[in-house]
Amino acid sequence: MKKNPLIVALDVPSKKEALDMVDQLKVYVDFYKIGLQLFLAEGHGVVEAIKDCGVNIFLDLKLHDIPNQVAAACRELVKMEVSMFTVHTQGGFEMMKRAKEAVEDEAFKLGISPPVVLGVTVLTSLDQKDLTDMGINRKVNEQVLGLASMATEAGLDGVVASPNEISDLKRVLGEDNMIVVPGIRPKGAAKTDQKRVMSPQEALTKGADYIVVGRPIIEAIDPLNKTVEILNEIKGVC
Ligand code: C5P
Repeated sequence: MKKNPLIVALDVPSKKEALDMVDQLKVYVDFYKIGLQLFLAEGHGVVEAIKDCGVNIFLDLKLHDIPNQVAAACRELVKMEVSMFTVHTQGGFEMMKRAKEAVEDEAFKLGISPPVVLGVTVLTSLDQKDLTDMGINRKVNEQVLGLASMATEAGLDGVVASPNEISDLKRVLGEDNMIVVPGIRPKGAAKTDQKRVMSPQEALTKGADYIVVGRPIIEAIDPLNKTVEILNEIKGVC
């Protein structure tokens, strides 16, 4: 059962630092995100090591390639028995559809539950100007909704978006689609490279299923204390 909606992003350079962080926080947090940095530094072993702590893994590699390659990569991710992983919606409908089919098929073959497959829409570090610079003429929320609708049609289980788009996503996609939001900044925290941000409480009030928090926790002087602060802040809304 879900302990709480907080996923801590283990954006650290080594397995040792990741394990130290999980060890400190695991009384309160049972879901951890492994991203490109840690996965490339440590490989598969880090997933196994963190899973051995009895917690859930969200492997956020944002797969984006031709459908055949992404489908094959998805089969490997299923074998790793992570709880959740990401593909990039900008890889297109066919890529997402093949990804989901490969996940279902591989999980069936292995006799295990398939992981949740999420589509990353528009990174929370991008704003309207960034989209314009990339030649995208739609408003940020229109772009997010367009990509999210395509992800849902392709069969994905949910999307990653910024907290600003949660209400629109709920309205357009319905209640069954999982919405996971990074770009979370507790009051007073620096935005750093994130542009479309919101507080944990606001994001959950709007209907996020999970919030992803990295630097505000892992770079805090006392990560455990910061985690407890965030959990206290969201107690009433989850
Ligand atoms: O440190 P911070 O809280 O900004 O970390 C946010 C995490 O969420 C990072 O690990 C980043 O890769 C991830 N993420 C994101 N925007 C997305 C998808 C994932 O910031 N659209």
